[in-house]
Amino acid sequence: MAKYKQGLACKYVQGTKYHRNRPLMDDLGSIPSPSSFKTYPDAERVQLPEPDLSQSADLWQCLARRRSERNTTPDPLSLGELSKLMWGTQGITARAGMHLLRTAPSAGALYPFETYLYVDKVEEVPKGIYHFNVADFALECIKAGDFSQALTAAGLGQPVVRRAAVVIIWTAMMLRCMTKYRERAMRYIPMDMGHVCQNVQLAATAMGFGSCPIGAFYDDDFNELLGVDGQEETVLYLITVGKLR
Ligand SMILES: Cc1cc2nc3c(=O)[nH]c(=O)nc-3n(C[C@H](O)[C@H](O)[C@H](O)COP(=O)(O)O)c2cc1C
Repeated sequence: MAKYKQGLACKYVQGTKYHRNRPLMDDLGSIPSPSSFKTYPDAERVQLPEPDLSQSADLWQCLARRRSERNTTPDPLSLGELSKLMWGTQGITARAGMHLLRTAPSAGALYPFETYLYVDKVEEVPKGIYHFNVADFALECIKAGDFSQALTAAGLGQPVVRRAAVVIIWTAMMLRCMTKYRERAMRYIPMDMGHVCQNVQLAATAMGFGSCPIGAFYDDDFNELLGVDGQEETVLYLITVGKLR
């Protein structure tokens, strides 16, 4: 058999297929079920204002104009603009039983990720790393200060990270999805994530901003910056956002 077929990627796809007559078996034992979202109750908070959704944007134009933009300017975003961006990312749009449904779909409505935000240039918000509290629509400061250099280094030195007004960082909450989908979870988590990231790109496009998805980074450098264990919760994806000339 070709060597690449024995690698992790091919084995993972084969081992997580659903078959009509054979249930997906594993030896994972019982998997604890974590809370549906994290909160940092002792953190200083920035309450995001209600997003102003009254301004319309043409979906077809946004789809046609969406691009990954790496040359953003040093101009800050306003708090209102940040609020709209975060709402586009993970705004709550309905409730279904205990599930808080969002602007993006998620397998089993589990939303197996957490959203963090590095604020570099936003009016009224001090620089720092924040956790986005989805239920309260608020930012919780987990590390105050300028982390632009550290983030850029963790992002393989890509200048797009240094230039960004904000960098959204998502972590995968593995157990939130594994309790239901077991080994297949790692198929669904990146699918969920892709929807969210596209929402950010479209929201950024609608406001005339530039954004760039970032998949190339040193995972554990980001895990350390966020203070997460890199196993049950581990960095998954980033996107930079900033104003354009
Ligand atoms: C999963 C994923 C990872 C990516 N990682 C990076 C990255 O690390 N750095 C970067 O500059 N662009 C990155 N991109 C952006 C792609 O380069 C870009 O989407 C592609 O060139 C197509 O261009 P467009 O988005 O402007 O249509 C990534 C895109 C995706 C979907």
